[in-house]
This record gives sequence, structure tokens and C-alpha cells, in this order.
Amino acid sequence: MDYFNYQGDELFAEGVSIESLAKEYGTPCFIYSKTALEHNYKAYEEAFDGHPNLICYAVKANSNLAILNVLAKLGAGFDIVSGGELDRVIAAGGDPQKVVFSGLGKTEAEIRKALKARIKCFNIESEAELHRINEIAQTQNTVAPISIRVNPDIDAGTHPYISTGLNENKFGIPASLALTLYQGAAKMTGVNIIGIDAHIGSQLTTIGPFLDAIDCLLLLIDQLETEGISLSHIDIGGGLGVNYGLEEPPEISDLIKSVKEKFVSRELKIIIEPGRSIAANAGVFLTRIEYLKNNNYKNFAVVDGAMNDLIRPALYDAWQDIMTVRRSPKNVLKKYDVVGPICESADFLGKDRELDVKSGDLLAVRSAGAYSFAMSSNYNSRPRAPEVMVNGPNHYLIRDRETISDLYRKEYLLPELRN
Ligand code: LLP
Repeated sequence: MDYFNYQGDELFAEGVSIESLAKEYGTPCFIYSKTALEHNYKAYEEAFDGHPNLICYAVKANSNLAILNVLAKLGAGFDIVSGGELDRVIAAGGDPQKVVFSGLGKTEAEIRKALKARIKCFNIESEAELHRINEIAQTQNTVAPISIRVNPDIDAGTHPYISTGLNENKFGIPASLALTLYQGAAKMTGVNIIGIDAHIGSQLTTIGPFLDAIDCLLLLIDQLETEGISLSHIDIGGGLGVNYGLEEPPEISDLIKSVKEKFVSRELKIIIEPGRSIAANAGVFLTRIEYLKNNNYKNFAVVDGAMNDLIRPALYDAWQDIMTVRRSPKNVLKKYDVVGPICESADFLGKDRELDVKSGDLLAVRSAGAYSFAMSSNYNSRPRAPEVMVNGPNHYLIRDRETISDLYRKEYLLPELRN
């Protein structure tokens, strides 16, 4: 389902004209569709169709409180990777007992905080981390529920920066070492083994690698059973890709159907940690053309949004669709590089895009609900863009545009140079 559609010649977010949102909130700006978020979350829920499951939205994809709150209201769990994300989940009304804590560098303070909040599970990424969690839990007179993240050495076939399931990657524990680590954990009094997990990468566009990873985990689960270690859940990570324009990822329902087939004769609860497939296509990034420019080689549309707002094109050479907010009746297309004002040649939102535009026109960069605002920065002293959520005919500001003084509020002059 697409919640960003033309009505006549004008692009709408659900029932709201995007031009009117630009007028009210200014540009650049992120616009999210509540209905799209809910639709994507429910697609997972419906596909599980009663099989015991927990859908833990990967907070890193988009951690705005309103987004987390919408999902929490649907009963979502959350996959976090920092103490900060845990605080956000709690502030947004999420249930800590549905939180799994991923990430390979959990600090002592983060572990303490998560233990206090009584999260569902720590996804352990190394032997050293297991020991640290065991010790901290003992000093807090508690027991940490744990899962071990196995690195199944599977090629997810995605961009190398977002591929995580190969031996060369820093994540998880090789399958060959996992059994020994579980045996060690079984003897510890500060941890309680409850699961096993893997996450092999992001933006996967085929089901095969997911199933291969599950096979690897199931093999381990069976070996653990014979050792007297039985698990209550398997966490298959996130990673389902979305269609940015040219990709043809499986539907959420297809993925879950294939996953469930692996569990027909097993009681295990399936945890999944989707981020992008819930949030990406629930958002657009709205930007206005400041100037058109031609340098005898190329046409450039210089916009007011930039790589600090949306770094995916610069960082991963990612392609995201760019639409004009008002369709031109003549539609005389020219090729443009859509670029921001930042002093780097990597500052582009799209290259060689066929557009019929003039200065002042609004452009919507599609699929900007995940890993967009969440990865934004203040590079070039650019205040971060506001975020707006649309619900049917209504729209709400869910994060204010930053002001310049916000940017240097926590900076200090040297005392000896103050006067
Ligand atoms: N679980 C773990 C342990 C993860 O590391 C990730 C993403 C997820 C779940 C969620 O994966 P998803 O369902 O969103 O694919 N910034 C990159 C993506 C980085 C993904 C990092 N880990 C991008 O913009 O493409």
C-alpha cells in the first residue's frame, strides 16, 4: 500500500496535501504516514497468524517518540542498541519486557540500566560481554535473560556496509564456538539462557539467506537440547528489504510464511527485529529547489535538504525515488543531479533524475522513513529538519525544527579568552 499518492497533479500524504505541509512546517522536513506504519507492523502480526511471536521494531531505523508510541500502542516490542534507545522506548510508552538489547559494545551503565528496567533479553555478542553481564547481574542480585547472537557466515547479498552475517564482520559469535559459550553460560548464576539470535544484514531482497540463517540456528538449538539446554525463543533479526524503486523484495507475508514453515513441529517463539520494512516507506523527505544550475556538463537542482538530513545516497550510494510534489502538465523532462548546499561532492540526494522543475518547486524523496532522520547530523551547522506525522486528514508536528542556538547550546568558550 502506498500512502503517498497524487490526487490530481498534487502529491498527498494520506489525506493531506504536501504543499500545505510545506507551507505550515517549512522545508526541509520529514513527513510520515501513521497509517503506513501501522499497516506494515500489522502485516507482520497477521502473517504470524497465531504462531507465538514478538515483533521487536528496530528503534535505530527511526526513534522519534511518536513513531515508537504508535507501534507501542499496537503491542510492538523493540530492538534496542543503546541505553538511549531504551530511554526512548520507555518515554514513548513501550513495554521494557518486550525489549531485546542488541549491539556488541554494551557499556556497564547500559547493562545496569537494562537490568533495572527488566528487559526481555540481552543479545550477547561476545564471551567478554557474557562475563560482564553475568558479573553485573550478580552484583545487582538479579539474573539476566540472555540469547547468544550467532554469526552464521551467510552472505546476505546486500551492501557491504549493512551486511553483518559474514565471518569477516564484527558481529556475533561463529556458530562453531556458540555451543561452548552456551555451555559456559549454563554454569553462570547471573544469566538465564532463554534464546538464540542472528541478524545477517539489512535490505535483503531474497528469502533464501534468512532461511539459511534459521537452519544454522536450528542445528544449534538441536545440539543444545541434547546438552540439556532448552530455549524458549529464536530471534531471526531484522533485515527485510523494501522497494526503493527497482528492488523487488518479498512481501512481509511471504517472508513470514516461509519462516513459519521451519517451525511447524517446534514450540519456539519467533522474535523478529524489523526496522526498515516497517518505517522506510512510511516517510518522505520534503525539500525545496533553491536554484537550477547548469555547468555545461550537467544540470543541477540545488535543494535546501542535504546529506546531513539524508545521508544514505552519500554513504551507501543508495537510490531513493524523487518525485515532484506538483506534477507539471507539460512534463518536459531534463536530467538533474539533485544536490544539497553542503561543501562535499557526496552531497547529493539523487543523480541523473528525469524531472520537469523550476526553482521554488518542492521535491519529495521517497522511502525516507527509516535510516534518514535517525542518521541526520548538524554538519555545516544545519539545524535538523522537523518531523511531521499525518493521520488521515490530520497532521501533527512530532519534532520541532532545531534552531541554530540549539546547535551550540552545549559549547563553551575558553574561560581565559572570554573577555
Ligand atoms: N537487528 C539488528 C541487530 C540490526 O543491527 C538491525 C539493523 C536491525 C535489526 C534492523 O534491520 P532492518 O530491518 O532495518 O534492515 N543505515 C543502513 C541500515 C543499517 C542497519 C543496521 N542494523 C541503511 O540506511 O541502509
